[in-house]
Amino acid sequence: MNRPLRILGIETSCDETAASVVLRDTDGRGEILSDVVLSQLEEHSAYGGVVPEIAARAHVEALDTLIAEALARAQMSLSEVDAIAATSGPGLIGGLIVGLMTGKAMARAANKPLYAINHLEGHALTARLTHGLTFPYLMLLVSGGHTQLVLVRGTGDYERWGTTIDDALGEAFDKTAKLLGLPYPGGPAVERAARSGNPERFTFPRPLVGEARLDFSFSGLKTAVRQVAQAIAPVGEQDIADICASFQHAVSRTLKDRIGRGLQRFRETYPDVGRPSLVVAGGVAANQALRATLDSLCDKNGFDFVAPPLHLCTDNAAMIAWAGAERMAAGLPADDLSVSPRARWPLDGNAETLLGFGKRGAKA
Ligand code: KG4
Ligand code: ZN
Repeated sequence: MNRPLRILGIETSCDETAASVVLRDTDGRGEILSDVVLSQLEEHSAYGGVVPEIAARAHVEALDTLIAEALARAQMSLSEVDAIAATSGPGLIGGLIVGLMTGKAMARAANKPLYAINHLEGHALTARLTHGLTFPYLMLLVSGGHTQLVLVRGTGDYERWGTTIDDALGEAFDKTAKLLGLPYPGGPAVERAARSGNPERFTFPRPLVGEARLDFSFSGLKTAVRQVAQAIAPVGEQDIADICASFQHAVSRTLKDRIGRGLQRFRETYPDVGRPSLVVAGGVAANQALRATLDSLCDKNGFDFVAPPLHLCTDNAAMIAWAGAERMAAGLPADDLSVSPRARWPLDGNAETLLGFGKRGAKA
């Protein structure tokens, strides 16, 4: 489509209510005109995780105000946007219903096309908005609900190369934190504690390391942490720091092996791509130690390591608006207003469902 596109995006799949207006120029360049995110962290922290019913209600209360604010900050009225893009899966069904129904109602009222967006596609395409990446590239999504290595071949064209067969990486951080008595969300707390710990004190398992398949497994790691904590109880502050550092070290080694193989596979698949890219997305991408591991791995393998700014790695609506813009620009069809939200919705329709994968199906 040979005209600039302005898309309103809506995201409500988990515990962030978000709205954004994004511009996609004819040359493929993107600009975020507004990006409003309301985190529900406080509502859920007392429960040590996201409570679906609380999340859905909070989305209902906040969404219309956030959309009005996103339009106002972009200095636009609804009639001026070219389309509406709303996350319609995967995620918590209550929240998805709120966002998608709002998107449908607005599309109908303003007579605009509606794009029902896969949340994972939003993460997958963000690097084209922030870094202008060209296809193909690899994306590692590491969040509270997903751990996936995805080949991004084009808009709407994805191949899942690896996924977790049990816990997501963020979930492993959260569970480790919980059993050590650290606050929720666990990732930042574990990273902080690890800074003053000894990564060599405990040897934790590195599941699937050495295997040719590109999948991940983290539940054994969490169990090993529990066993060590019980064996040396009562755990003091230094013990906690040592466990966290050893845990992070095991994760780092695992990623190095798994992703290293993914980079090799990319090289074999695309020998003509001179300087390929590995993109990270998801909340775990905030972890400095893991970032450093991935950065040096990419460096050694001749890949660019691309890390969008953190607020665009975690859940937001700019990535949803952008995915809508990319779809529209690629001439992909808009969705019918009868489209339904989907709690489970794999990005790669051909990927088999692995044992335990998407168990929680909640967070992406
Ligand atoms: O993408 P995200 O903000 O939300 C969803 O999963 O929907 O990711 C949140 C996850 C949580 O599991 C959190 O513990 C983890 O990302 N996380 C981290 C760090 N910051 C957030 N994990 C490791 N190190 C961090 N610094
Ligand atoms: Zn997400």
